[in-house]
Amino acid sequence: MAKVKTTFFCQSCGTQYAKWQGQCNACKQWNTIVEEIVQKPEISGWKSPSNNAKRVSKPLRIKDIDTSHEIRINTLDAEFNRVLGGGIVQGSLTLLGGEPGIGKSTLLLQIALKLPYKTLYVSGEESQKQIKMRAERINPNSENCYILTETKTQNIFKQIEDVEPDIVVIDSIQTLHSDYIESAAGSISQIKECTAELIKFAKETNTPVVLIGHITKDGNIAGPKILEHMVDTVLQFEGDRNHVFRILRAHKNRFGSTHELGIYEMQGSGLREVSNPSEILISKKDEELSGNAIAATLEGMRPLMIEVQALVSSAVYGTPQRSATGFNAKRLNMLLAVLEKRAGFKLGAKDVFLNITGGITVDDPAIDLAVVAAILSSNEDVALPKDYCFAAEVGLSGEIRPVQRVEQRILEAEKLGFATIFVSKYNKISLKNTQIKIQLVAKIEDLVGILV
Ligand code: TYD
Ligand code: MG
Repeated sequence: MAKVKTTFFCQSCGTQYAKWQGQCNACKQWNTIVEEIVQKPEISGWKSPSNNAKRVSKPLRIKDIDTSHEIRINTLDAEFNRVLGGGIVQGSLTLLGGEPGIGKSTLLLQIALKLPYKTLYVSGEESQKQIKMRAERINPNSENCYILTETKTQNIFKQIEDVEPDIVVIDSIQTLHSDYIESAAGSISQIKECTAELIKFAKETNTPVVLIGHITKDGNIAGPKILEHMVDTVLQFEGDRNHVFRILRAHKNRFGSTHELGIYEMQGSGLREVSNPSEILISKKDEELSGNAIAATLEGMRPLMIEVQALVSSAVYGTPQRSATGFNAKRLNMLLAVLEKRAGFKLGAKDVFLNITGGITVDDPAIDLAVVAAILSSNEDVALPKDYCFAAEVGLSGEIRPVQRVEQRILEAEKLGFATIFVSKYNKISLKNTQIKIQLVAKIEDLVGILV
């Protein structure tokens, strides 16, 4: 009898070892290396219907390659389309990751139910009845959506040959297993093999496949890192389960930008697309409260008005606490140091808490000025006027630096009824006839002078 071939894989990063060891050399995790049985599959799971051996790919001159036919499928979900860069590309593999309960299955089922194309939704996690119950909450009348509960790839491919779907959704890649590999579902070698079979199927039949992937505690997609290299697009569905808003981002996108953001609201009847996020991200209060400031940020191509809240109070313990939600804590410390050094505020003995409302994480440096304004407002305990907003970066020497596409931000602020926007003096603005007052500031002292 042939000897069973085994190898050792790190369950955290997927690195392969010839023998067991306690710590993974690559990701430095302890006790993550596990023995798995591997067998090189002689035939792959997906066998294309045409005679495979004859179809050898030939090099083509680049001008002869035909891209004229429609290569993207419009998903009828504007947010999903935007994040993908205009729809699902034919023959592509998309991986959607996110915490349990965040709404991955809901999102993809909802898209599958809406699509005018034949869709096969394969679930290894829920029964057909459970999925039907979920579908009834969303959109019960769909002619084109087929539900299959199956976990073995060979059986899935058999059903695909019968149904001939235009789109395949797999919920989730961790529940699949292939006959050609003997280890358990969810193990590194199974995930690799099943993904490879699905890629072969997608590329040969030009059918797009969307995979759902679980994530680990630290937010990475469970399974080998190589999974993210194998697929064309990696999407992340984030948000706080207690908040109603969900955010869809692309971490990798072979067919578009990774800067776009999709925003949804979880409702009793599925996820609602939020096409005008600024209106909901700013809490509508009648009173003016200290410590709040509005930033005019950009996420991808879309302007987004976000509320920043700060709380500055005397430190209770010897070491003051600094904590930031949705904002980089190091950057917060830097801004506090700038305020201390350049504007003479004694913040060294104060606790500072910062929160970006709506559970959103912002990378746009243009939020700096709003953060500074919120801190100043809380420190002095004076509320900023409700119709002020801010869009500028703050430099180490206290200078207010220009930000990109400032005119777009100004127009969005004007549209939402803001009266004044603070921007850097060094931004070139050629807008005329604006209702909104554009307040130019050059140094942090200028801002302090106006606000306090
Ligand atoms: P689900 O899609 O099952 O999450 P995942 O697949 O990422 O694990 O999301 C389930 C949550 O969404 C669950 O807490 C119920 C809630 N939900 C709604 O609020 N409204 C709905 O219409 C549906 C279908 C689910
Ligand atoms: Mg699910």
